[in-house]
Amino acid sequence: MNLPLNISGLSLPLLPVSPQFINLCGEPATGQASGPLKELTDGLTATTASINPKFFYDELGSRLFEAITGLQEYYPTRTEAGIFDASYAQIGATLAETGIRHPCLIDLGAGNCAKASALMQHLTPRQYVPVDISVEFLRASATQVQNTFPALDIVGLGMDFSKGLALPREVQSQERVFFYPGSSLGNFHPAQALEFLQHIADPAQGKARGLLLGIDLVKDSATLEAAYDDALGVTAAFNKNMLLNVNSLINSDFDVRQWRHVALFNTERSRIEMHLQACCNLTVRWPDHERRFTPGERIHTESSYKYTLQGMTDLLRQAGFNHVEHWTDAQGWFGVFWAAV
Ligand code: AVJ
Repeated sequence: MNLPLNISGLSLPLLPVSPQFINLCGEPATGQASGPLKELTDGLTATTASINPKFFYDELGSRLFEAITGLQEYYPTRTEAGIFDASYAQIGATLAETGIRHPCLIDLGAGNCAKASALMQHLTPRQYVPVDISVEFLRASATQVQNTFPALDIVGLGMDFSKGLALPREVQSQERVFFYPGSSLGNFHPAQALEFLQHIADPAQGKARGLLLGIDLVKDSATLEAAYDDALGVTAAFNKNMLLNVNSLINSDFDVRQWRHVALFNTERSRIEMHLQACCNLTVRWPDHERRFTPGERIHTESSYKYTLQGMTDLLRQAGFNHVEHWTDAQGWFGVFWAAV
């Protein structure tokens, strides 16, 4: 029971209010034969080893990412926040023109829910659905949001949405607005990004009215590389922590001290790449498997694609969105897009 205590018009909950929370992680998504074991084994035994970037986000990984967003070198988070700050009135008006008043706001990769919280008073959603693979981290942040907005209908979803967007029936199907900020779409290879966007735009699938998207833009390599290789080494820790998460998921025996953080901008493919580079000859073992690495051999842990405003506009149109607008910062470093179905 959470009885509001009314002090001079302020409504303060006596006890933390827990939002509705549904955990779909651990259950293989429909059509998916297996969980992380097969996916990780496939990646680790491939000629060029790789680990999908979603495996950054165990609880510590989510905290390390939160720390990254506060780094001087990591411009995307504050630049995006600046664009929203300067444009929320316009964004709200644009949604209203589309006839959207009180959307069901589906926040993909919500993390600490800070971005949606900042927009809440402008978007006035009837329901807020934060989705994240980092289940316990999300549970804590969704609880915080619930305490800030006690009257808001919140359905937290622990889910790996890279495998599909089948949302449970608790999620309202009317006036759905997908919120995908922070340039996380950049983690998909362009063909996968298109497929993911098509899925959202498809009225039979995502039931979306529109998508509010934040995406990082192409800029000089030095700025990009500094953002992914900061002086304090927080991004290096974030990268290496993935090995600890993999150890706990598949019982492998990675020793983080044997790996070096590498970040570089691949100009031809317009993407930041993060790798972990083996320092020496070493063998990693997990049940029924092993992989040898030679000195300098790398595991590809992340691609973070950088778009142009035109490139993203074209991709959104190609995905089936009829109306695309964008906002950017003075330097043109980051883009916020509204794409209506
Ligand atoms: C959360 C995927 C947007 O690519 O910038 C930050 C993750 N990786 N530093 C990004 C990340 C290294 C981040 N995204």
